[in-house]
Parts: sequence; structure tokens; C-alpha cells
Amino acid sequence: MLPNVLQRSGADPHVPVLADEVRRLLAVQPGETVVDATFGAGGHARLLAGDLRGRGKVVAIDRDPTVKPYFDRFKAATGLDARFLRGDFAVVLTQLAANGVRADAILLDLGVSSMQIDRVERGFSYATDAPLDMRMDPAAELDARQIVNQWDERELATVFRRYGEERYARQIARAIVRRRAVEPFERSGELVDTIKRAIPTPARFGEGHPAKRVFQALRIAVNDELAALEAALPAALEMLRPGGRLAVISFHSLEDRLVKRFLRDRARGCTCPPDFPVCVCGKEPELRLLTRKAVRPSAHELDENPRAASARLRAAVKV
Ligand SMILES: C[S@@+](CC[C@H](N)C(=O)[O-])C[C@H]1O[C@@H](n2cnc3c(N)ncnc32)[C@H](O)[C@@H]1O
Repeated sequence: MLPNVLQRSGADPHVPVLADEVRRLLAVQPGETVVDATFGAGGHARLLAGDLRGRGKVVAIDRDPTVKPYFDRFKAATGLDARFLRGDFAVVLTQLAANGVRADAILLDLGVSSMQIDRVERGFSYATDAPLDMRMDPAAELDARQIVNQWDERELATVFRRYGEERYARQIARAIVRRRAVEPFERSGELVDTIKRAIPTPARFGEGHPAKRVFQALRIAVNDELAALEAALPAALEMLRPGGRLAVISFHSLEDRLVKRFLRDRARGCTCPPDFPVCVCGKEPELRLLTRKAVRPSAHELDENPRAASARLRAAVKV
């Protein structure tokens, strides 16, 4: 499944996805410590802060420095003990855990925010011509322009196939390499044109925009999103107090698979082969699943916010 978060819509850009379900599963109580590891515009944080009823702490994390004014407004409005830590959640959560900081509820709402997509100059959208950038952290070294102009054909095809599930990955990679030999890519519009020319005509008019998958793949590669998630999950688990809750919203199957496997593995006890007479691994479950299957947005939510279409929520409690 591919996300439709790259599509523009008229929906309110700050509507938090699966908000009621996140609140129900995280079940935040007054006096607790909440970590919003993907603060964005603070939509979820505002709701969770409401559940603290004026008592408790909020740690907000985001790698994008442009969210800071949203955090400042959030802090002023809630009056809570809140702090903003800018950085990759994989790094920040690991440091917090190592420093003994503990949390009762942790949320990861993955991917890009509507705010980032709507800021044309960030280059996340295939719908508007912009510089080829796509960095969530504008200070990061790698941007989409470098990948498109410097990675070799096979690497490009692998990225498009793996992160975008793009059928025509090889054809598109080949067309990119040919085009850049004449003139390097600078703008998203040039890439969209090259993609359209590389794929068979009927595919140009198929499901969704023909550049949707390649743009998703580039965004994941630029921001190393899967590696960040893989490192963040154990750090989040370490930070949780017993009884603490972790909720993760993902927007494509690769992320969801990582989350599902992690939660399932940590919720499992003994891993000894079934024919062992006694347990020798000694493994105890660390988590209890709060969601057996991923929670999807309701039809009502999709009517109100089509950008939520590919969202899947999983949650667990530390035992
Ligand atoms: C979908 S938005 C979150 C929206 C937020 N829940 C709200 O209600 O406004 C995802 C946010 O997470 C940030 N983000 C994504 N990956 C990150 C990472 N590895 N480390 C830190 N922030 C990250 C993005 O910059 C973006 O602001």
C-alpha cells in the first residue's frame, strides 16, 4: 500500500490522524510523562496534553527546526512542563533512555507532515515544481538532488522498487541516468517529466500520479526513515516505565511491517523450539499488544481527512 500523503487536499493541514484511537490507546493520565517523538504541528500533542489536565510533562521531538514556533505556542497554551528536543528521534530517544529519562506514553506518527508537504520549497510534493530537496532536517547533508544525480542506475532502481514498490523502477532509473548525462536534475518538475516519459503510456493514466511512488521512495532514502524507525523502537521500549504505552502510526507497508514485527517479537516470551522439554532461553515478554491488527481510520475520518487513508496504528503496553 502506498501513502497518499503526497497528494494535496483541501483538508486542514493540522488535523491529527487517528486522534481518538491514539488517545484511547495511550490513555494518558494526569501527572504522567508523555513523549511525542514526531511533534510536527503538535496536533496529537495538544490532545494528549489535554488528558494530562494540567499536571505532567511533555517531551517533544522533531528533526525539523521549523516546528519550533508550533511547540512554543503549544507550551504557552498548555502551560505544561514541556521541552522541545530537535533531532532524529532514533538518536534523541536513545540518549534519553541512556540518561535514565522514563516515559508513560510515547507516540511516533511517522512520515512527513502536511505542513512540510504544503511548503512548496521543501520539494516533497510532485504536484508543484520545486528544488529537489525532501530533507526533513534542512541541515542534513543528503538531499534528493544528490541521490538523483549521483547514485548509480542500479542503486536508483533498488530504491524505487524497495521503498516505492514502483513497477517501472528499472526503466525510470535508466531514463534518469540518461537525462542527467545531458543536464543534471535541479527541480522536481524535471524529474516528474522524466518519470512520465520512462513509463508506458497507459501507466501514466493509471492509479494516482505517475511520480507518486518514486517521490515516496526518494523521501524515505533521503531521510533514512526505515533505519531511524528500527533504531527508535527499542529505545522507546527502554524509556517506557512498566505500564507505559507505545503507539506508532505508519503510512506504508514497509514501516508497518517493521513495527508489527518489533511489537510481536517483544510481546513473545520463550523462543525455544517447541520440542524442547524445558525453556532454556529464559525470554520473558516485554510488551503486551494493545492492538492485534493495525487500526485503520474510520470512513468518517477519511471523509474529513483523505490524507489519513494509508495510516495504520499499532500500540502496546510495557509489562
Ligand atoms: C506526520 S508528522 C507528525 C504530525 C503530528 N503528529 C501532528 O499531529 O501535528 C511527522 C513529523 O515527524 C518528523 N519526523 C519524521 N521522522 C523523524 C525522525 N526520524 N526524527 C525526528 N522527527 C521525525 C517530521 O519532521 C514531521 O514533523
